[in-house]
Parts: sequence; structure tokens; C-alpha cells
Amino acid sequence: MNFETLDKDLIWHPFTPLTGSPQPLLIQSAKGVYLETIDGRKIIDAISSWWVNIHGHSNEFIANAIHEQAKKLEHVIFAGFTHEPAIRLAQNLQTILPGNMSKVFFSDDGSTAVEVALKMALQFWYNQGASRKKVIAIRGAYHGDTFGAMAVGERGIFTDPFRSHLFDVAYIDFPLDGTESNVSREFKDLLKTDEIAAFIFEPLVQGAAGMRMYAPSVLDSLIKEAKEHNVICIADEVFTGFGRTGRMFACEYLSEAPDIMAVSKGITGGTMALGVTACSKKIVTAFESSDFTKTFFHGHSYTANPLACAAANASFELLMKKECRSQMTMINRRHEAFRPRVQAHGKVKEARCLGTILAIELNSDDETSYANELRKKIYPFFLERDILLRPLGNVIYVLPPYVIQEAELNRIYSAIEEFLSTA
Ligand SMILES: Cc1ncc(COP(=O)(O)O)c(C=O)c1O
Repeated sequence: MNFETLDKDLIWHPFTPLTGSPQPLLIQSAKGVYLETIDGRKIIDAISSWWVNIHGHSNEFIANAIHEQAKKLEHVIFAGFTHEPAIRLAQNLQTILPGNMSKVFFSDDGSTAVEVALKMALQFWYNQGASRKKVIAIRGAYHGDTFGAMAVGERGIFTDPFRSHLFDVAYIDFPLDGTESNVSREFKDLLKTDEIAAFIFEPLVQGAAGMRMYAPSVLDSLIKEAKEHNVICIADEVFTGFGRTGRMFACEYLSEAPDIMAVSKGITGGTMALGVTACSKKIVTAFESSDFTKTFFHGHSYTANPLACAAANASFELLMKKECRSQMTMINRRHEAFRPRVQAHGKVKEARCLGTILAIELNSDDETSYANELRKKIYPFFLERDILLRPLGNVIYVLPPYVIQEAELNRIYSAIEEFLSTA
């Protein structure tokens, strides 16, 4: 039996209908921005493999760090034990996280980093005997696929089968241009109820909603308002972290700092699964007690896996290099130069850019959404040209590993122009 048949028989792929989906491409290796198929095709990974890759595939520096760590300590229970890679990572993160962050809690991925954030915020109030239980989220949000993360995300096709099991959340509208004062009024009304425990948001960009962007000033005023009511602010930087928006974290565009921050994706450069939830001293204080019941009873078998921490430390080192920063600047400059070329096109509703993210929302008779049927035209068009651009419905986005070269960006931009002129 060949690999394709085995895959079809034995494996259930994420976000993939079991009926009618094309055979997945068999990748045998990857280097830099290229994925190499078993039959020798070289495909540009223009979306950083679901937004995780930042230093290119099979990066030798990170691979060596994992290799060396694997020979020393592959894993150890993280309750009652600790290790150097985790401590070094906590130290490294401390130098780039907002100044008020005091401790980090390790988990496995973006969803679990968000679960930890939500549980910390809810238990923060519980430990103090307060009855605040409600969370405010922004419409269109995506925070992951575990139950808590689903609950605070937009309700729709991703969550419909589980709707009755998801806890109740108060939503405010996405602050589109011109609607900010309505959103702010809505938010203030919710805060008045004094039952709000936390406010969770994807800072500046809602990724899965179609790379929808909003201004730092709007978010700043929401956080400020929330803080006046003592509401815990949770920044979900799972997607935006580690330079995606042009700064280390999207929160760097803000004057206000969150109380809790969830990060993952780029943290290991896209090599190992790892999630981190950072929190301020204020949060920590509510758990500092000799009362056993006030413990944060949360943990995963692979919490702070040393291999993942070693990968994250190596990725951090690369991220701090001047070359990496100048690559991020180059990508942004090229995206910004390309944007007006497509913005004027009749098929384009809006072209948006922030940092290394370029999003092109296409006009469509149907609403902009993940399920928009245009995705069925977009994805194969680019794949046939050996470019991986997995659209969010009718939104094409380019989000490359930071090591991409100008010629490779040009190839992607030309293919987009070709798509707009022919499709
Ligand atoms: C903002 C945000 N939060 C959380 C997640 C969930 O992360 P993961 O897929 O690693 O569980 C994602 C994934 O795309 C995300 O974009």
C-alpha cells in the first residue's frame, strides 16, 4: 500500500471534510520557505504553515538546539521539578513581554494557552470570593478549538455542534471604522453590571476572521475602561506575537498593558508545540495562599517540555538578531508597496497590511467568512503555481516566514495579480 492510501485510510486531518477533499500533498522535507513534496515539487510556504514558522523550515540552529537538548533531558514532570531550558525561556520572555508581566505558565499550544488565561482570570475572582463570572469577547474572534477557547470565540460553523455546552459570553461588535463610539457605549454598558470577570481580545488583528484590523487607540480605550472597572484584560497574542505585526507583540502598539497574555505559534520558530500564558503580579497575588484550594489546578503532561523550551530559546536568539529585524522591515516595505497595486482592482474590496501580514479581501456576493466559496477557487489556483496560500474564505493573505527573499515575495505578488486578472 502506498502512503497516500494509508493516509486516506488511517488519518483524520484538521479542518478538512472527510468527503470530497483532495488528497493531501505528501511533504518529505522542507527548507527555508520551501516545502518539498515526495515527487519533487517545491512549494513556497506563504502562510508560514498556519502562522507558526518564522525562521524558515528545518532551521539548523534550532534543529541543533533540539538535538543537543534531546541528548541531555528530553522531558521531566514539571510539578516538583524544573529545568534550565524553561528557566532560560522565562528569562528571555521577560525581556520582551510587557513590563508588568510577572510569571509564565507553560502549556501546549495556542488553545491551551488561552484556556489557561481564562481559567486564571476566573479563578482570580473565585479565590477572592467574588461573584464575577462573565467574560466579554469581540465578535468575529477566534481563540482556539478547546471548549473555553471556543466559548469566547465567534459562534458559527466551528462551534455550532457544541453551542449548548459553551459558557455564556457577552460580545461587543468588532470596532469597524466609524463604529468605535457605539462599541465603546456597548462595552461601558456591560461593565456597569459589575459581573464581568475578564475581557479577551486579539490585539489589532483578528486572524481567523479574515485578518480584520483595528486601531490601537480603540483597543487602548477599551482596556482603559475595563481596568477602571477592575476587569482582567487578556491579550491573545497567539497569532500576533513574535514580530508578526512588525513589533515583538501587538500590545507594543498600545499604551495600556494587559493583565494576562497568551502566546504560542511563533514561540518555537514553528518547530515544536508550546504555549505560554504570562500574567501580572496582580494575578499571581490572588493565588499566593496557604489554602490548598486556591491552587491553580491545571497542567499538561508535557508542560514546559525541555525540547520545546530549547527550540524556543534558539528561536528567541534568532529573533533578536539584526538580520531578522531587517527582514521583517523588508517584508513590510514590500507588502506596503504592493498593497496599492491591488487595492484599486475591481475585484478587491480592501487590501490591509500590518507588519509582515498582507490581507486582500475580495468582493463577493456572499459575506466575508471562512466558509465563503471563493476559497475553492483561490487555494488550487495558487497551489497549481507551487505557492501555498490558504485563504480565509474570500480573504487571501500573505504571511511568510521572515527569511523569505524579495524575489520570492515578487513571485507571490505576481501570482496574486494573475489571479485577479484571470480568475
Ligand atoms: C488568536 C488565536 N488564538 C488561539 C489560536 C489557537 O491556537 P492553536 O491552533 O495553536 O491551538 C489561534 C490559532 O489560529 C489564534 O489565531
